[in-house]
Amino acid sequence: MIKVYFLSLLLVAHHGSSEPQKRMFPSDFLFGAATAAYQIEGAWNEDGKGENIWDHMVHTNPSVIPDKSNGDIAADSYHNYKRDVEMMRELGLNAYRFSLSWARVLPTGITNQVNPAGINFYNNYINEMLKYNITPIVTLYHWDLPQKLQELGGFVNPLITQWFEDYARVVFENFGDRVKKFMTFNEPREICYEGYGSTTKAPMANSTAMGTYKCAKNLVVAHAKAFHLYDKEFRPTQKGECGITISVNWMGPASDSPENETAAEIARQGEWGLYAHPIFSSEGGFPKELAQKIAEKSAQQGYRQSRLPEFTEEEKDFVRGASDFFGVNHYTAFLMTPMKYKGIFPVPSILDDMNVMWNWPAEWSQSASFWLKMAPNSLYNALTHLKAKYNNPVFYITENGWSTTPDSGLVDDARVTYYRAALENVLDLLEAGVNLKGYMAWSLMDNFEWMRGYTERFGLYEVDFSDPARTRTPKKSAFVYKHIIKNRYVDY
Ligand code: NOJ
Repeated sequence: MIKVYFLSLLLVAHHGSSEPQKRMFPSDFLFGAATAAYQIEGAWNEDGKGENIWDHMVHTNPSVIPDKSNGDIAADSYHNYKRDVEMMRELGLNAYRFSLSWARVLPTGITNQVNPAGINFYNNYINEMLKYNITPIVTLYHWDLPQKLQELGGFVNPLITQWFEDYARVVFENFGDRVKKFMTFNEPREICYEGYGSTTKAPMANSTAMGTYKCAKNLVVAHAKAFHLYDKEFRPTQKGECGITISVNWMGPASDSPENETAAEIARQGEWGLYAHPIFSSEGGFPKELAQKIAEKSAQQGYRQSRLPEFTEEEKDFVRGASDFFGVNHYTAFLMTPMKYKGIFPVPSILDDMNVMWNWPAEWSQSASFWLKMAPNSLYNALTHLKAKYNNPVFYITENGWSTTPDSGLVDDARVTYYRAALENVLDLLEAGVNLKGYMAWSLMDNFEWMRGYTERFGLYEVDFSDPARTRTPKKSAFVYKHIIKNRYVDY
């Protein structure tokens, strides 16, 4: 009797002490991977697709890309989509985020010219996913504006709000019976600041003084129009969700001095608050301190009025709350201080308007992308901040990933380290009560990394771009991700 008692005590002690409780992902958590049309599809002028701003830029000015490459063929997903879905199955994904090419659906961007072959391609892609219970998550706009609309000014023309709503209608009508998660825009900051405020993305408009801000307002209103269209006309029958994806890298203070905290806060407002505040805050409109800063700066520069446009009260109400979820693309962190000298960006940065700059601790390791370092707990810091600021909306992490050089091979240990740390952070976030419903790795496969061409690789699968068949091979990170998804915990 005594023996049995001691034995059971021992067992209890053993169980209680040396075997830590595994932290599990919830069973309905979405694990996916993400891509974008221009980066993977190729077939740039096949089957009636129209020209977009990336086609136009790389063909008229190939030297803007260091390896002089383009997305004409890319990973050729237009012809390899069944293999793409097979890869999703190999990984055990239950979700896949991809974007539609506006000019493949509407070659000139307008609604009386739907391209049936484009609709057909996306129907096939979506149906192939659904066959294997993979939830399609569709981005309407991932940076590839029809060139014809750019010729009319693109995102700095307020008519973009109408063009986008018309396009959204075509998308909801054609795919909404099967697609239940839509996001309007991918990364407004990159569309507006990088595309219109500088030269770091197509259309390289370089309108530093006001391009970013005009675009910001038009884009936010365009988003809200598409959201309300979905909400009123499509949701009653289709019963899905419509949101937006914003890039939220963590911007913290370089030290806990009040000046650095102020610098970090204004940087957050300039980098993502510009787009998130009008939609997700209870106050609505652009962030107040930011508006004041831009107004002061504009006055100093001799402008008659602020370069930041205003929302009317009616517009504010229309935009506020117009999203079912907050999609977050997150990669890294920047530590902020007041501006002491001109920042390291070769082009004027929006941070110049904020009079702030960033630095990185020397010990953070560097990826193949100059802007991407491994920053401890940056995902946790970003999402807990957003939770507090915007009253804990539903979140999806719609991108997160690490880049390597083209010759770095299949054993991508740095990417494995990055994903493990990020997924540990996801578990921390769930424990902290953040309303987080899914995680998408960027990217399913190597692809055209915009201005960096094929010189930086983000894929879980390697793509052989010298092979006409664009053969895809899993990297070590693919096996690790698969293992984590299957077990639903992170082990080592
Ligand atoms: C975010 C963008 O959405 C995606 O297109 C890009 O490739 C990744 N960041 C990596 O830079």
